[in-house]
Amino acid sequence: MKKYFLTGLLHLIFLFILNAQVDLVGLLCENRMNPLGIDQARPRLSWQLRSARKNVIQSAYEIRVGESLNSLSSQKNLVWNTGKLNSSASVQVPYGGKILEPIKNYYWQVRVWDESGKPSAWSSPASWQTGLQNISQWNAKWIETGVAADSLLHLSPLFRKNFSSTKKIRYATLFITAHGLYEAYINGKRVGDAFLTPGFTSYNKRLQYQAYDVTEFIQNGKNVIGAVLGSGWYKGPLAWEGHKEIYGKSLGLLAQLEIKYTDGSAATVITDGNWKSATGSIISSEIYNGEEQDNRKEPRGWMFPDFYDHNWNGVIEKVYPMENLVTTENEPVRKHEIFKPLRIFKTPSGEQVIDFGQNLVGWVMLDVQGQKGDQIKISHAEVLDKEGNFYTKNLRAAREENIYILSGEGIEHFEPHFTFQGFRYIKVEGFPGELKADDFNAVALYSDMPANGTFKSSNPMINQLQHNIQWGQNGNFLDIPTDCPQRDERLGWTGDAQAFSRTASFNRGVNNFFSKWLKDVAADQNPDGGVPFVIPNVLSPSAASAAGWADVSTIIPWNMYLAYGDSSLLRQQYPSMKGWVNYMRDHSTNDLWNKGFHFGDWLFYRPDDDNDGRAAITDKYLIAQCFYAHSTQLLINAATVFHLDDDKNYYRQQLENIKSAFLKEYLTPNGRLVSGTQTAYVLALEFDMLPESLRIQAADRLAQNIKDYSNHLTTGFLGTPYLCHVLTRFGYNDLAYTLLLQDTYPSWLYPVKMGATTIWERWDGQKPDSSFQTPGMNSFNHYAYGAIGDFMYRVLAGLDTDPDNPGYKKILIRPHPGGHFSYMETSLKTYYGQIVSNWKINGDQFILDVQIPPNTSARIVLPTSDNTSVMESGKPVSINNLPDKLEMDGIGTALEIGSGQYHFTCVLK
Ligand code: BGC
Repeated sequence: MKKYFLTGLLHLIFLFILNAQVDLVGLLCENRMNPLGIDQARPRLSWQLRSARKNVIQSAYEIRVGESLNSLSSQKNLVWNTGKLNSSASVQVPYGGKILEPIKNYYWQVRVWDESGKPSAWSSPASWQTGLQNISQWNAKWIETGVAADSLLHLSPLFRKNFSSTKKIRYATLFITAHGLYEAYINGKRVGDAFLTPGFTSYNKRLQYQAYDVTEFIQNGKNVIGAVLGSGWYKGPLAWEGHKEIYGKSLGLLAQLEIKYTDGSAATVITDGNWKSATGSIISSEIYNGEEQDNRKEPRGWMFPDFYDHNWNGVIEKVYPMENLVTTENEPVRKHEIFKPLRIFKTPSGEQVIDFGQNLVGWVMLDVQGQKGDQIKISHAEVLDKEGNFYTKNLRAAREENIYILSGEGIEHFEPHFTFQGFRYIKVEGFPGELKADDFNAVALYSDMPANGTFKSSNPMINQLQHNIQWGQNGNFLDIPTDCPQRDERLGWTGDAQAFSRTASFNRGVNNFFSKWLKDVAADQNPDGGVPFVIPNVLSPSAASAAGWADVSTIIPWNMYLAYGDSSLLRQQYPSMKGWVNYMRDHSTNDLWNKGFHFGDWLFYRPDDDNDGRAAITDKYLIAQCFYAHSTQLLINAATVFHLDDDKNYYRQQLENIKSAFLKEYLTPNGRLVSGTQTAYVLALEFDMLPESLRIQAADRLAQNIKDYSNHLTTGFLGTPYLCHVLTRFGYNDLAYTLLLQDTYPSWLYPVKMGATTIWERWDGQKPDSSFQTPGMNSFNHYAYGAIGDFMYRVLAGLDTDPDNPGYKKILIRPHPGGHFSYMETSLKTYYGQIVSNWKINGDQFILDVQIPPNTSARIVLPTSDNTSVMESGKPVSINNLPDKLEMDGIGTALEIGSGQYHFTCVLK
């Protein structure tokens, strides 16, 4: 008995010690784990505290950085040692040690002191490797085949070079980029698992190179390095009307292999005139049209050292400016989910079709055995038509076809390299034998942004909507944010991206993704501050500066600041934000911006026979003035963060002028907007364009308009993201839920009811009788209307950040029960750790389980006006060591808590 007591006591003491401890996990450099190719002079370091205790706060930290693991443990030759610094900063702390040298590994670790001054153990070490840092480190030369672009047609060139390595390697890194797209190989093995590299940027100004750890690839003795190139975004057709070769006519390769030996010596293999070139099995490859491969033409074994390449051609060295070379900061495109055929069937018109059950972006991998010269054609489609036949009209000029010619040598594996397709269905032609599910796999490709949010409710339709939003994001976050992934477009349409950006941050970590793309926004911004419709700008410089599109330059930096607390991204974009706001100022008369071309509330909905005085069409210049004000406000916000008082004061005055010009032009003396539409009222209310005294009646008019359309929205790309937020803010939460749960079109759940697996471009892409909207503009994978996801997380589930403590340093948990939801389970991985907020309703009881990460705090607002009913883990909150801050918060009872797990209950009223 005594023995059991002692064991139990020891166990308790052990648990107590364990609970009291703070562990450090999740060490990131520049928001990535142990990254390579770091060219920032002061890379930013983040770590997470882990503890089972409540109210954990970091009071101090110490970081040490060395050039080897040994230097960390021996504390000798450290390049940075902060000593103990009193600070709660644990996210994006900039390196401040000795100047970093190129192509070097740096190891780091951190320890922290908690709120009571108790130190943690040192974290496990993490690392980063610096990149080439500047042009002077690039010894490699651009190489091309030397064959005139025209005679090469669309053939993908191969490049190879033998080299030898005879000493023991400490580490080897390949730095590589291309004009076009590349895949690289060393000794037959593919380098890295990234696709469509070097990614899509405004190549003339910013061409990314990638760094790969290839230490394990290099063998003692003979080696070979090789690469195959494709046209991609650089040279292939993009946009419309035969627009191609936007960045150049010739494909080229630039590669530098750096080998560091254990004896301290180093070797470099570079692209230069000594390489060999040929062509292989890829006879054509284009983003829109697909890829054609002829396996009979593959020089077998060309990626291996013993391959006989004497009959290969030489290459030519070319000189291009190197100033545009930049390191890669976002996660590469990788392969993700694999979908097996759900159904293999014949359509009424006799086509052999496979249904993968999900509209996805990527490609189909297939295994096949047949005769030499057999030709298989795989076509792609998002939907079947009314009759159940394969439907491709909405792809417009994009062919989306892969063609494979067999060599006849055993089982052959086919998949494309330098294209991607948006599809749910494929049509298979010329396949030798019967189609078997085992032989076909559809793989989703998208930027490898960490999945950080989960959302599940008691309503299966809403859960499917969330699924569709996530798949809209997966499919359209393929290195750049695209409007759609299938037709002859797939461009970085700025309006779509800004509308969806906040939602995107709830589903995945998009900090690096947008940081990279926003640099292209700034790079392609016109000298007068105008912002192009698409980024990278593959259209003309004059295709720019539309309201709600160009505002991408202010909206996304601010959204990323809110979601990640990333002030360096905001600082990076500040000149671009200011440039755009000044553009609108310079194009205004008497503070009224009413000039130029605008898309307006793109794809808003209006019934065919809309003649009874209701309004759905919004004046485009009214919209422009609202966004002018909004962007100015965001610029003021950013100026406030950076204490730029002159800017702040100047733009505050400017904002007042913009708003009074708005009132003069667009508001009647009695408070009616000249466009009586949902979007007009939504924008005017969301951006605080109206005096306080007129807001309530404006909200009433908005509500009335919605009711006039029998509880339907009519908003397009610009009004939709804010619609439900405005309704909730002005006391129409129930109406917001009515819209959210509406399942006849236009509504979010109508496509769900129709079996959608992604977000549609149009509210009525497919009519109830299964006929389609006009094929010229009818994508079934267009994330813009998925912007409702932000409302679902922040209002319905009630998970948000305090804007004054962004990046979830201070968390807001403020559920809005209603709409017959009986439970809601959400989580979000932040730089501080994972937030969990699960609520449910049981009779008149509201139950909320939350998890608040260490080193953050939270404000919880419970939906009750009876603050005496609030309990935490069964005890009244006031006696449970909670900060004693029960207060009424308009919609409920608010309390402030520190980190930890909590179980709240209250009476719902
Ligand atoms: C795209 C949109 C884009 C629009 C501009 C379309 O072709 O697909 O999503 O924002 O053009 O209005």
